[in-house]
Amino acid sequence: MTTLSIIKADTGGFVGHSAVHPELLRAAEDGLRAAAGDGLLLDGKAASCGDDISLIMTHERGPDDDGIHTFAWNLFQETTAVAKRLGLYGAGQDLLSDAFSGNLRGMGPGYAELEYTERPSEPVICFLADKTEPGAWNLPLYKMFADPFNTAGLVIDSKMHGGFSFEVYDLHEEKMIVFDCPERSYDLLMYIGAPARYVVHSVRSRTLDVPCAATSTQRLSLIAGKYVGKDDPVMIVRCQSGLPAVGEVLEPFAFPYSVAGCMRGSHHAPIMPVALGQAHPARFDGPPRVVALGFQIREGNLLGPRDMFDDPSFDRAREQANVVMDYLRRHGPFEPHRLPLEDLEYTTMHTLEERLAPQWTSMARPAVPTPR
Ligand code: F6R
Ligand code: MG
Ligand code: MG
Repeated sequence: MTTLSIIKADTGGFVGHSAVHPELLRAAEDGLRAAAGDGLLLDGKAASCGDDISLIMTHERGPDDDGIHTFAWNLFQETTAVAKRLGLYGAGQDLLSDAFSGNLRGMGPGYAELEYTERPSEPVICFLADKTEPGAWNLPLYKMFADPFNTAGLVIDSKMHGGFSFEVYDLHEEKMIVFDCPERSYDLLMYIGAPARYVVHSVRSRTLDVPCAATSTQRLSLIAGKYVGKDDPVMIVRCQSGLPAVGEVLEPFAFPYSVAGCMRGSHHAPIMPVALGQAHPARFDGPPRVVALGFQIREGNLLGPRDMFDDPSFDRAREQANVVMDYLRRHGPFEPHRLPLEDLEYTTMHTLEERLAPQWTSMARPAVPTPR
C-alpha cells in the first residue's frame, strides 16, 4: 500500500500573508529530497498556495505515522528559522505547540492523507487553497462524486453508477457519520451545506471499494482557542477508471462559489481557481485561491506537477470571481460579506459587549396603567 500525504503549514508570509518566499520553498525541497534519499519517503515535492507551504509526499508508512509527522514538523521548524532570519511576516504562525509528540493533530499544521493500492496508472490531483477553510471542499466534492450534472460518469459509467459514500465530520462536536449516495444525498446536503461546522473528510467508491478523496479538517481557531489564521485546506482526489475523470474533478471550479475566509478569515468571497504563478491573494487578502496540481504516480514516484488551472478554460471563472468580489466588497463591514458574528475570527465583539453592557437598557415599556 502507498500513502499520499499532504502536510501544510504557514511558517511565514512574503509579503504580509500573500505568498511564500522562495528560500522557504528551497529549504522544504532540500528536506524532502534528503528524506527520500534516507528512505523515509518514496518521493516528495514542495508547493505553495498563498502563504502556505505544502509537503506532498508518498511513503509506505500509512496515515497518521509518527515518523512522517515528526519529519514534517521538523521541516516546518527549519522553514520557520529561515522566515525568522529573513524577517518574514508571521514566522512560525501555524506551529502552535512547543510540545510536539509525534502526531500533528491539534498542533497547527493541516494534513490530508490517503492510503491506497497503486493502480497500473494512478492520476491524482492535489488541491491547495489559501484564505479559506476545510468546508470549502464540500461543494466541489458533492459535485464531483454525487452530481450527474457535473460528473457524467455517475450516469454512464457502470463502475460509477453505484455511487460514492461520503464521510462527514462535525467539527464542533468531534463526531462523524457516513452517507451513501445517491440515496442519502438530501441528508448529506442538509449537513455539508453548513461548511463552517460539517466537513467532508473522505469519499469512497461503493462499487470499487477504494478511497477516492481525502481533505484536511483541522480548524486552527477552535484548536488554539484564539484567532491564529484560517486553516487553509488541502485535498487529494484520485481520478479516472471508475472514479471521476480529471475533467470532472476540475469542473466544479469553473464556478467561483462563495467561501468563508479572505480578509482576517472573516469574510465571504468567491474562490478563484488559478495557476501557481497567480496563487498570491493580494486584494483584500483575497479573493481566496485554489491551485490544482496533477500527478501521475508510478511506484510512489510523483511525476508532475501539472498546473491544471493554468488553462484559459478557467478564465471565465476568474473574471466572474472578480465581478463577485467587487459586488461583495461594496458591503464593507456588513453581512453577507462579513461573516455572521459566531464565525468571526477576531474577538472584538466580546470586549465590546463587556464594555458596553452597562449602557444597554431594557426595551420593555412601563406597564400601561388600567383606566379606572
Ligand atoms: C486571513 C489572513 C489575513 C490576516 C490579515 C491580518 O486568513 O491570514 O487576512 O488575517 O492580513 O493579519 P494580522 O492580524 O497578522 O495583521
Ligand atoms: Mg499567514
Ligand atoms: Mg494561508
